Formats: sequence, structure tokens, C-alpha cells
Amino acid sequence: MANPNVLILGAPGAGKGTQSSRIVEEFGVEHVTTGDALRANKDMDIGHLDTEYDTPRAYMEAGELVPDEVVNEIVKTALEEADGYVLDGYPRNPSQAEYLDEITDLDVVLHLDVAKEELVDRLTGRRVCDECGTNYHVEYDQPEEEGVCDECGGELIQRDDDTEETVRERLNVYEDNTVPVIEQYEGDDAFVRVDGERAPDAVWEDVRDAIAEQA
Ligand code: AP5
Repeated sequence: MANPNVLILGAPGAGKGTQSSRIVEEFGVEHVTTGDALRANKDMDIGHLDTEYDTPRAYMEAGELVPDEVVNEIVKTALEEADGYVLDGYPRNPSQAEYLDEITDLDVVLHLDVAKEELVDRLTGRRVCDECGTNYHVEYDQPEEEGVCDECGGELIQRDDDTEETVRERLNVYEDNTVPVIEQYEGDDAFVRVDGERAPDAVWEDVRDAIAEQA
């Protein structure tokens, strides 16, 4: 069987990053994540595109979407280079969904479904390793030593966009732009809704089974 092409959808904080790491390990695919790609290129000059702000950083810190031209290009290149992938953080609006449809075929579309109140709590409490990107949570998923990554000893930091104000704006942007995308995929045979409000291990069982069945 060829490596699967998996799309993972869900609100900010639904656990896309957490589950994607497990998908990568189990199915040997690439993790293609627009959030990480943009964080690695935060200060790239995009002023020539006639956009509202001159860098991805300014959009991200405001909780707004980075312009489609920038993100579409990142995804196209990454998918071309991947032998199977889990795509996380894209598409986030109907025009990105249309572009994705033109450039690839999806085997599985997962929607991690989590209620809004829980998302704020998860994101404002999230801490991320500055070195290897492993996720923790100040209450639900603590490292052995406070502020230090169990995996690599790196420093745990709070993402710039995990402040409460920006989290709320990200959730509003999600409601307005990304929920219509999910509704569009809902009719597809490849679409599987997963209850994301349970512990990561329980969510993982459903995610793994859905990919194994569909791919
Ligand atoms: P991005 O980095 O994609 O962020 P996001 O979609 O907002 O998602 P997150 O990474 O915040 O959440 P997640 O679902 O991965 O949750 P996680 O597993 O970490 O995007 C950031 C910004 O970049 C955007 O706002 C935008 O500006 C820009 N951008 C990105 N893509 C773009 C695009 N396509 N177009 C335009 N702009 C774009 O989990 C969260 C926390 O919960 C962690 O602490 C974790 O430990 C905990 N947790 C996870 N699972 C569980 C569980 N089951 N139970 C309890 N706690 C859990």
C-alpha cells in the first residue's frame, strides 16, 4: 500500500499537531504544517504582494490568516516533495480548499471536533519546546522538570499567538473561514469525524483506525 495522503482539520487547539506526530510515526508520512512553516519564516518580506502587512509575523500575532499566495506556494512545494503526508493547518478558507483540490488527491479527511470553551483552555496553557517542537500543557501534560523538554532538554516557551486575546481572535477567524471548508468536506466518502474531546490516547485510537480503514 502506498503511503496515505491525510488531511487533518480542526479548530486551533483541537489537537491536530498532537495527533499528526503520531500519524507520522505510525504511517511513515511527512508532516506538512503551514503553521510551523510560517513560524520558521515569520519575518519573510511579503510587502511586494500588496498585502495589508509586510510579514507573516504581523498576521500571526493578530490571529489573522496569512495571505493565500504565500501559503498556497508553501503547501504546493511541500506536497510535491512528500511520499504520503498529513496536512495540518491548511486549507483554512474555501479558496485554499479549491487550490488543494487542484494539486492533490486525499485518501482520508479527519475532523477533530472539540467545543470552543475547551479550546481556549488548551491553547492558553500550551507550552512548546523551542528546540524540537514537542507540545506540553501546564495542567494536562506537564514535563518531568518544569520548563524543560522531556525529549531533548530544550526550553519550553509560550507561542506568541497563545495569549488569550489572540486565541479568541483565531477562534473567530476559524468560525468565519474554516467551518465552511469542513462543511464542504462533510459529504465526501473520505470524511471521518473524530471526537477530539477525549484524552490524546483515546483520540489516537480512532484516528489510527480511520486512516487504516480508508487508506
Ligand atoms: P497553526 O500553527 O496552524 O495553529 P492552529 O491551527 O491555530 O492550531 P494549533 O497548532 O494552535 O493547534 P493544534 O490543533 O495543532 O493543537 P495541539 O495539538 O498543539 O497556525 C498559526 C497561525 O499561522 C494562524 O493563526 C495563521 O495566522 C497562520 N496560518 C497557518 N496556516 C495558515 C493558512 N493555511 N492560511 C493562512 N494563515 C495560516 O494541542 C493544543 C494543546 O492542547 C496542547 O497544549 C496539547 O498538549 C493539548 N492537547 C492536545 N490534545 C489534547 C487532548 N486530547 N486532551 C487534552 N489536551 C490536549
